[in-house]
Amino acid sequence: MELRKDEKKNVLITGVSGFVSRHFVEHYLTNTNWNIVGMARLSNVGDMDRLFDSKIVKENKDRLRWVYHDLKYDIPAHTREKIGGLDAIIHLASNSHVDRSITYPRQFVEDNVLGAVSALEFLRNYHPNARFINFGTDEIFGSAPDGYNYKERDRWNPSNPYSASKAGQIALGIAYHNTYGLDILNTYTMNIFGEGQDKEKFVPLVIDKVMKGEKITIHSKLDSDGNVEDVGTRFWLHGRNSADAVMYLLEHGVKGEHYNVVGDIELRNDVMAKKIAGYIGKPIDMQYVDFHKTRPGHDRRYGLDGTKLKELGWVPPVDFEKSLEKTVQYEIAKYNT
Ligand SMILES: NC(=O)c1ccc[n+]([C@@H]2O[C@H](COP(=O)([O-])OP(=O)(O)OC[C@H]3O[C@@H](n4cnc5c(N)ncnc54)[C@H](O)[C@@H]3O)[C@@H](O)[C@H]2O)c1
Repeated sequence: MELRKDEKKNVLITGVSGFVSRHFVEHYLTNTNWNIVGMARLSNVGDMDRLFDSKIVKENKDRLRWVYHDLKYDIPAHTREKIGGLDAIIHLASNSHVDRSITYPRQFVEDNVLGAVSALEFLRNYHPNARFINFGTDEIFGSAPDGYNYKERDRWNPSNPYSASKAGQIALGIAYHNTYGLDILNTYTMNIFGEGQDKEKFVPLVIDKVMKGEKITIHSKLDSDGNVEDVGTRFWLHGRNSADAVMYLLEHGVKGEHYNVVGDIELRNDVMAKKIAGYIGKPIDMQYVDFHKTRPGHDRRYGLDGTKLKELGWVPPVDFEKSLEKTVQYEIAKYNT
């Protein structure tokens, strides 16, 4: 069922205490008439501040409700009652830290693969007419050679248990569409940045190190003399662009289809770090470390081809430079208070 943004609709967002979902909730409260039910698990109660700190959320809280549930398990009747009727489910909940997945792979299969089954069973048994966004990542495809950007149905080659568990989530979405004919759309999204991201991720980590005058490690390929031969790259998009792409797909996407959501810009990791330091207005201290020795399971480059979503008519609303500057200003304000 297509969802127009001007209609009164009920949308469930799983993983609502996470970083990306904060941008989804803000964007939908601002740009749609939808009522939102957020699902968080009890261990994330503290993280809900990320949502409630937002001015937009505070001003629109009559359109936001939330429930607590761990998606490793089926959603029980009392939670289903609290959620009520639904027109769409946006499945964002995932255990998302690559390094932790390398140490504790089982947790990632439990959260991300069992989590997907619980969300899809909820769709199949209780909301079979709702539209379901199965939110994946470029990491499923693994490292991309220079100049090549994967199309939606290219082969998968996950480099670590996190990426493999996300591939499991997407595979289940495909199976639930093929087996039960459910209205499921699968997405693959590139690196997201924005206000309120956890400090372990690249952008807030660089901000933190620059603010404290500490050294930033840049993973790279070094020759035998220690000279830098190659540095990894990432495409970047702001959280609001990822939210807008999904909002567009809820209205215009085709049932059972797959869509890449690409970043606005590809940058070498050291260039991105320098850009961030430039917006802070402080010097940067970088140390290049060989990634083959220090970072097993990490990819040098990701690449996705965004033609399909562009041809569907989606135009990202937020400019990269402006949104990076705003993100940096938002984060450094925390250090001045
Ligand atoms: N951040 C990025 O750059 C990026 C890029 C592409 C895709 N994604 C995807 O976007 C989604 C959100 O990522 P994020 O960066 O906001 O991560 P996050 O870790 O900030 O948020 C994910 C949330 O899901 C919750 N969750 C995990 N397992 C759960 C379970 N079993 N039951 C209930 N809740 C559970 C977590 O507790 C967390 O609050 C994930 O699906 C991730 O794979 C993120």
